[in-house]
Amino acid sequence: MKYSKVKDFFNEIAQFYDIIMNDVDYKEWAFYIDEIIKKFQGKKKILDLGCGTGNLDIILKNKGYDIIGLDMSFNMLKLAKEKNLKNLVNASFFKIPFKNEQFDVVISTFDSLNNVNDIDELKKVFLEAYRVLKIGGIFTFDLNTIYVFKTLWNDYLKVSEVKNLYIIYKSEFIEPDMCLLKITIFQELENELYKKYNFEILEKAFEIEKIISSLKINFKDVFAFEHLSFRKADENNNRVQFVAIK
Ligand SMILES: C[S@@+](CC[C@H](N)C(=O)[O-])C[C@H]1O[C@@H](n2cnc3c(N)ncnc32)[C@H](O)[C@@H]1O
Repeated sequence: MKYSKVKDFFNEIAQFYDIIMNDVDYKEWAFYIDEIIKKFQGKKKILDLGCGTGNLDIILKNKGYDIIGLDMSFNMLKLAKEKNLKNLVNASFFKIPFKNEQFDVVISTFDSLNNVNDIDELKKVFLEAYRVLKIGGIFTFDLNTIYVFKTLWNDYLKVSEVKNLYIIYKSEFIEPDMCLLKITIFQELENELYKKYNFEILEKAFEIEKIISSLKINFKDVFAFEHLSFRKADENNNRVQFVAIK
């Protein structure tokens, strides 16, 4: 999907993002990132690529991390700012506006890196993360797998009612490795008058081995775990957490 379309998607959906993510246990996710950092590195200065509305960063900040959030969407960052996060940068993770070797840890969560078009774009992000990491620093991120697109997300339909919103999620697998997610929101204004919003985003997934070999071009050691665990990842996982050491 074109960079500008992804940007428009997140700028427009930003107002609903935290409601949509209502049932995501960010505390558990932050606990996991904290565990990874302690296991592989232990240091405190983090850059978060695609930080969104800052739900994870606020928890990591409260755990004592010095965290900078980077996101292409101004509207997502505006909401992060309202959560009292101050270190925020409006930029693309394809061109990170920091000098070399500034960070102990680079993270990216909730499939932000599935928003690339192909493996070359993903490699561009890997190279940028590598560049801004100090020697011995770690890059850790999660990705949705081809498997989850083919199974759970294929012909998926869910309707939920949250506050004054009816949210319809529909997704379909697109051969060989993509998923089209459509979100329709009906927002009740007054007296059963509803405003309708339509959103669409295309995510791209990759074989685990392809990601590992792409990371290994630059990083010294690379690990892939089933998300939220330290079990070795396999192609039947829904989400995989990668850890790459510079
Ligand atoms: C699914 S959200 C995840 C947000 C956050 N990490 C979380 O866990 O809630 C993906 C985020 O990645 C950002 N994003 C997508 N492509 C990007 C790019 N090329 N550069 C910077 N941010 C990007 C979007 O704007 C969005 O905020």
